[in-house]
Amino acid sequence: MAGGNRNPPVVAVGTASYHETVAAMAACSAHRTSYALEGRDRTATGDSLEFAHSVARGLDDSPRWLDCRYLYDAAGSHIFERICEQPEYYLTRTEGAILAAVGLDIALRTGSITLIELGSGSSIKTGLLLDAYCELYGNACYTPVDISSSILEHAREELAASLPDVQVAPLNSTYDGAFPIFREHSPAMLLFLGSTLGNLNEAESLDFWERVAANLSSGDYCLLGLDINEDAATIDAAYNDAAGWSEAFTRNLFARMNRELGSAIATDAIQHVAAFNRECSRVEIYARFQRAQSIYIEPFDRVFELEAGEQILTEISCKFRLEEMVPYLADFDFITEQIYTDSDKRFAVLLLERR
Ligand code: TRP
Repeated sequence: MAGGNRNPPVVAVGTASYHETVAAMAACSAHRTSYALEGRDRTATGDSLEFAHSVARGLDDSPRWLDCRYLYDAAGSHIFERICEQPEYYLTRTEGAILAAVGLDIALRTGSITLIELGSGSSIKTGLLLDAYCELYGNACYTPVDISSSILEHAREELAASLPDVQVAPLNSTYDGAFPIFREHSPAMLLFLGSTLGNLNEAESLDFWERVAANLSSGDYCLLGLDINEDAATIDAAYNDAAGWSEAFTRNLFARMNRELGSAIATDAIQHVAAFNRECSRVEIYARFQRAQSIYIEPFDRVFELEAGEQILTEISCKFRLEEMVPYLADFDFITEQIYTDSDKRFAVLLLERR
């Protein structure tokens, strides 16, 4: 048993005690030097054949599913950024507000270290944190990791303009490709924000934490963003925005199959279905076919026949309980040092240290 800290302090941002803590820590912080990063880029993985294999595996299964990583091509990443801006999608906004409020506190606790972010997307929220590192230490080193090369390039340009003191060394890769770089960047903090952990199933999550623990060095940090909302109405609204970006996101996965696998799917017949399943504490997101549909996978010359009304699972999004997560993470040798939440307890940012 890993004997982690079972009762980490929970800090709701904006309270007086929080501001006192930050001020006291700032007074005794020592300046530390930062580390130079080399430019690094890898070619995009997830080529068409890998995509075709994954799609065939999911469509052969019962019930049918598709791997959510394929939602994030250039078009999908762009649509997801729009989702993040919607008034119903509380996750990004709330996490951003927490990071803006506690960025200095986090930077003080970790000292000057390299930030590595999995699934970095636009890096907008991370800019709030990088800003705090620059303020305290004069500069920062940042390695965003994303499967979309276009969004990575866009993020690099934006950061160069807004935070010139940040050395950005992007890595165009899946998570798998990122694990080996953790050790060479230590001392480091791994960022896994946006409650992306919720998109992994139980087995994937176990595998993920085993690998993160194995590749981070003792004393490294991990900053984990978790959706802790329990209110079904606000959750359902977040995954069914009025402007229709959620539906566009789900449909794009099939448009991508048309583009890359010659699938010839009528995407206008796809209905986006998302609802909170309280028993499993997760949102289940489906593409529902309103008409019967043949899905062609050109590389294998295979056709999958779907009936009218059939649903394909495209993503799950688990919602977490802190009292379960803290011991879960301790089993992988991660001590929860601080938990930052918003006053409505919808989102939590956990600062973890690898023992
Ligand atoms: N990673 C996002 C989440 O779990 C994914 C997501 C948000 C999503 N809205 C969606 C996926 C709509 C499909 C459709 O919050």
